[in-house]
Order: sequence, then C-alpha cells, then structure tokens
Amino acid sequence: MTAEPEGTVGEILIPEDVLQEKIGEIAARISEDYDGRRILVIGVLKGAIFFISDLVRRLTVPCELDFMAVSSYGASTHSSGVVRILKDLDIPIAGRHVLIVEDVIDSGLTLSYLLKNLTSRGPASLEICTLLAKPGYRRLNITARYVGFELPDVFVVGYGLDYAERHRNLPFIAAFEV
Ligand code: IMP
Ligand code: MG
Repeated sequence: MTAEPEGTVGEILIPEDVLQEKIGEIAARISEDYDGRRILVIGVLKGAIFFISDLVRRLTVPCELDFMAVSSYGASTHSSGVVRILKDLDIPIAGRHVLIVEDVIDSGLTLSYLLKNLTSRGPASLEICTLLAKPGYRRLNITARYVGFELPDVFVVGYGLDYAERHRNLPFIAAFEV
C-alpha cells in the first residue's frame, strides 16, 4: 500500500456563516416547493452528512431520511469513473417524492449513475440538491434543482468533504493542495 501525500488545507473559500445562511435559504425554497407533500430525503454518504443534517432541521415539510453510500474516488482527487453501491437504501422509493442530497457534483458521474438507478425504482418525483457544484458536470446533462454554491474546478475539503478521509470535520469549505 502506498502512503497518501499529506497535502495542506489552504484558503477558506466558504466561511461557516455564509454556508449556514445559504442552507437556510435552500431549506426555505424546498419547504415552499414541497408544501403539502412528504419528502424522502436521500443523503449520499459520507460527504453529505453535515449538509443534510443542517438542511433537514430547517425544513418545515414532513420528511423521512435514508442514506446510500457509493464510491467513486477512493483516496484520490480524481474520479475513477467507476461507481459502486456500498450501501443501498432501507426504504422503498416507489411512488415517493425523492430529494437526493449531495455534498458536491464534480464530474457528475456519481449522480448520473444514481439518477439512472433510482429512476428505475419508480419514484413519484426525483430532484437533486447539492451544496457545491463544479463546472464539469454540465457535460453530462444533469440538472440540480437546488445548488448552494458554484465552485471553480478546485479540490476542496471541510463540512463533510474529505481528502483520504481527513478534514471532514472543518466547519467551513477550504481549498486543498495535494
Ligand atoms: P463526481 O462523480 O465526479 O461528480 O464526484 C462526486 C463525489 O466525488 C462527491 O460526492 C465527493 O465524494 C467527491 N468529490 C468531488 N469533488 C471533491 C472535492 O473537491 N473534495 C472532496 N471530495 C470531492
Ligand atoms: Mg469523498
């Protein structure tokens, strides 16, 4: 096994208060859009856990939570293009209003796979909410209904996002240099 380079946490790109304010705005939009409906919120582990927990606590519509774990990166900063389901949902989604919550869309490979997979299970509706979006995914024709922040093509850590499992616990989003 080869050792991962340590890397350094660089500039803070999104401070904690800016993150939290945006999450409040997104929660308000979701609550309005889904008024009168019950949402099944699907979090993509592990990166989305901070976002999802701050987001759902601000929703005013009833929701249920479930989680999926998929792998695309391993311990590198480049997508392998291979997506594997490591943990599937506990709750059947047929006929449900499903909202996928992601930490970041980079190449979009993970989401395009998830969308195909979840669509085949017959949800009543299926939308995407992502905290961060990098420019590359637009090539794949994916539409995210809720996007927190558009980022340039930089690798970031913090607020759930990791480099080789490190730095998830930072309360802000920072650039990361390998
Ligand atoms: P995609 O399949 O290329 O869109 O990548 C999606 C997944 O890659 C995310 O759910 C993250 O786990 C990971 N990822 C993409 N960009 C970053 C980043 O800048 N920092 C940490 N993880 C990232
Ligand atoms: Mg990751």
